[in-house]
Amino acid sequence: MYKPPEHILIIFGASGDLTRRKLIPALRELEKLDLLPEKFAVLGIGRTAYDDASYRDMISNHLDDPGEMLSKLHYHSMDPEDKDSYVGLTARLAEMTTTLQTDPNFIFYLATPPGLYATVPIFLSEAGLTREEDGIWRRIIVEKPFGTDYLSARDLNISLLEHLQEHQIYRIDHYLGKETVQNLLVTRFANGIFEPLWNRNFVHHVEITSSESLGVGSRGGYYDNSGALRDMLQNHLLQLVGLVAMEPPTVISSDAIRNETLKVFQSLRPITGDDIKDQVIRGQYMASHVRGEAMPGYREEDGVPQDSRTETFVAMKLFIDNWRWGGVPFYIRTGKRLPTRVTEIVVHFNPSPHTLFGERKAGSGIGNQLVIRIQPDEGILLKFGMKVQGAGFKVQDVNMDFHYKDLIDSYIPDAYQRLLLDCMQGDSTLYARGDAVEAAWRFVDPILQAWEKGPDIPLHGYPCGTWGPEVADQMIEGETYTWRYPCKNLADDGLYCEL
Ligand code: BG6
Repeated sequence: MYKPPEHILIIFGASGDLTRRKLIPALRELEKLDLLPEKFAVLGIGRTAYDDASYRDMISNHLDDPGEMLSKLHYHSMDPEDKDSYVGLTARLAEMTTTLQTDPNFIFYLATPPGLYATVPIFLSEAGLTREEDGIWRRIIVEKPFGTDYLSARDLNISLLEHLQEHQIYRIDHYLGKETVQNLLVTRFANGIFEPLWNRNFVHHVEITSSESLGVGSRGGYYDNSGALRDMLQNHLLQLVGLVAMEPPTVISSDAIRNETLKVFQSLRPITGDDIKDQVIRGQYMASHVRGEAMPGYREEDGVPQDSRTETFVAMKLFIDNWRWGGVPFYIRTGKRLPTRVTEIVVHFNPSPHTLFGERKAGSGIGNQLVIRIQPDEGILLKFGMKVQGAGFKVQDVNMDFHYKDLIDSYIPDAYQRLLLDCMQGDSTLYARGDAVEAAWRFVDPILQAWEKGPDIPLHGYPCGTWGPEVADQMIEGETYTWRYPCKNLADDGLYCEL
């Protein structure tokens, strides 16, 4: 790993939660690993009236082991919506570049409310701060949510591209920064044994779950205008679908990989009309007791209207209409206040074509399963049938497993750490490209619209601490298959999750 070139990182929204909880700690980790350039500084921007000293003080409360990080932090108070204030910003950056004796390479990180994602780049561009010349580079990182539907995402892309070039724009989807998500590419394309089976001839269905045990907490105001479909499915879950389903890229390069995931999004069979009711289940958590603790319902959370119809759970059955996946259902679900925090992908292979051995032991699956655990207990597990010892030929499922925690160097970097480093190095592979973001919105748009317009599409309540509405279970529960409930049989499961 080499150090990125010298630059200044300018964070809009510097006093916000994301900066304190994720960005500065990620930078501190990079510093510990000696992966920050010698000449490097952070300039925090916000309306709050800090100066360098008081900003460092505030941040120091959020860093256990600040090291040299604090001395790299600077602060500039301004109103990002006031065009004139960019004159002061330009002067401040000129002064910092002179003091640091560094090239004026800049990364602008938009960790602001989404209302500013279009405005700030326009003012930066008008102030000449996004111009790249003489080897100097200028980049912008845009946080999620990137738009709230297809049209707003398209408009945001158009506006950004009027002032910047695509190679300067880094759209964050922090799931792509997770080590285990990147390992999906390695599992599929660095091994000869999986890829020949990775298609409609051998795969029965694919299941992707991203569940959280927490509720919306203090984010009720934001969440109520978003909901699980926008907050998790349109971005994180579809990116996982993209990596599971993509064709092998010809090389590992940003364009090659992102071209392939785009093709997956373009092949998603639209879910429209009556299919929405059958293929997409929405739910909202209701008050209940979880392991003796009283949990409020979604409508009782701060910032949430008492009659809110925002979904905190969504389960979907989707199809990818291409040669590899024709007819193979993908079941994906996400929700808050579910029994545990877990994200995993399960590839269910077809059962053997002829039943030689009669009954399998209760609880055993019917086909082989490859479980790719994104978090926690990051790892991979293959479930297969083995003979129960003794007389007869009874079959039971056993696990062949790999856990990251068993490696001698089991350190797993935080997603933001990886993504910040990549942007510093000019590598956008793990950032979402504009066309892919639009294609993902295009897929979910009809569902959002149907939900808004069609009050007859039910919003199912589910008690906190359960796996969502029962109808979502029925979506996949047939005679032989069910969703995988990761923490149901902890003892045999082979992968751990918190209860
Ligand atoms: C964010 C969502 O993008 O992802 C949150 O806005 C969600 O609602 C979070 O809690 C989940 O991320 P992770 O990394 O904890 O799985």
